[in-house]
Amino acid sequence: MNSDSLSLLRQELKGHEFGNKVYFINKIGSTQDHSRSLIKKGIKPLHGTVIIASKQHCGRGRLSRRWISPSGGLWMSIITERGLTPKRTPIIQFLSALSVGESILEMTGLQCTYKWPNDILVHGKKICGILLEVDFQGDKVKTVIIGIGINANFPASKIYRSKNFALRSEITTLRDELDYDVSLFGLAKLILEKLEHYFGLLKKDEIKVIMDLWKAKSEPFDRMVSIKDGEEIFQAHSLGVNDEGILKVELPNGSVKEVMFGDMNFNV
Ligand code: BTN
Repeated sequence: MNSDSLSLLRQELKGHEFGNKVYFINKIGSTQDHSRSLIKKGIKPLHGTVIIASKQHCGRGRLSRRWISPSGGLWMSIITERGLTPKRTPIIQFLSALSVGESILEMTGLQCTYKWPNDILVHGKKICGILLEVDFQGDKVKTVIIGIGINANFPASKIYRSKNFALRSEITTLRDELDYDVSLFGLAKLILEKLEHYFGLLKKDEIKVIMDLWKAKSEPFDRMVSIKDGEEIFQAHSLGVNDEGILKVELPNGSVKEVMFGDMNFNV
């Protein structure tokens, strides 16, 4: 990442809803934690503020997992606080996935697929993960921090070799898929512009439009999966995702269960 492309990113996003303020930090614990401290400090404007790091040493993934974040990746958090309601909030993970998938396609020609709840895959391997951290005030949503981690300009072997890596799903990177490096700020800019577009739809409650787009590119359902729901791990037949983003599965006894949070892995 060089300072010219950072200034260009800042210049091009001036006045936009997302990225009007962009913090870039070379080495950081986690962009999610940094976002939290900015919220605590009460910086203004908060909504649409973006934090990008070139390297994270305590990157966080979903379900309290570690997210390995070497230099060359796009590690970014976006703070949102407007137009959020408990009904709209879960949809943010799907519209964020769409924003990333469409940006990768536009920039590189690579087709992405989506895996519930918020993984982005290329050729069946994970290239990006999304982490939503929601803060409530009473029963109202106060802020949502959207964390986006894209394995970009480094080989996947860097992650596989890391001593903290636990193999849960196969991983790929843009470098491995393309054999060249992409502009991380260029990619960030595309994602932020698309987020703005999809947030516009969300504010108009066009949730079905968002979910239909996500479903059109999701990994196929109607297959045996392994679900981790809290402490519980079970096998089930996946039926699909409804317009609230809830996964429906059929248990071996024939009953249908709804899974709102958790993790899904395909059985091979
Ligand atoms: C997942 O488990 O798939 C979600 C991974 C999210 C990683 C991103 S990288 C930027 C932001 N900062 C973090 O510490 N985590 C998220």
